[in-house]
Amino acid sequence: MFTALYPKLDSIFACTHDSETKLKTICTLLEKNIPHYNWVGFYFRNGEKEELLLGPYVGAPTDHTIIPFGKGICGQVAVSNKNFVVPDVKAQDNYIACSISVKSEIVVPIFVHGKNIGQIDIDSETIDPFTKEDETFLEYVCKGVASFI
Ligand code: SME
Repeated sequence: MFTALYPKLDSIFACTHDSETKLKTICTLLEKNIPHYNWVGFYFRNGEKEELLLGPYVGAPTDHTIIPFGKGICGQVAVSNKNFVVPDVKAQDNYIACSISVKSEIVVPIFVHGKNIGQIDIDSETIDPFTKEDETFLEYVCKGVASFI
């Protein structure tokens, strides 16, 4: 499933479109081709403020366009600088619910020159769907994003 997506990602990373378009194209590619990815979006740090702003995404609209550092899964990754895999969102107390259909979530940070500048966030309607393969794949996505952002 992931193998065929790597060359497609490389084409997006290298193309001449603007960053917003590339990010949206990545969201669409992932949401369309990976059955357990039901909402795919990017959050980026708002300048030097300790908050994340919603960037391009594909999936249901969310009210959570600003997330303070430390709040929810996304806000925790902004502070920890580490991947966060949530097999079952019901088991998390520091979680921001966007939709009752969401069962699990994965967030992987994006580093530019060693600085955590944002993240990719995936929501899934499947319980416990994420493996090491997802993490490796999403780390590749984040490295590619760091190369053009
Ligand atoms: N669930 C996230 C909030 C963002 S939505 O999933 C789009 C969180 O707990 O940080």
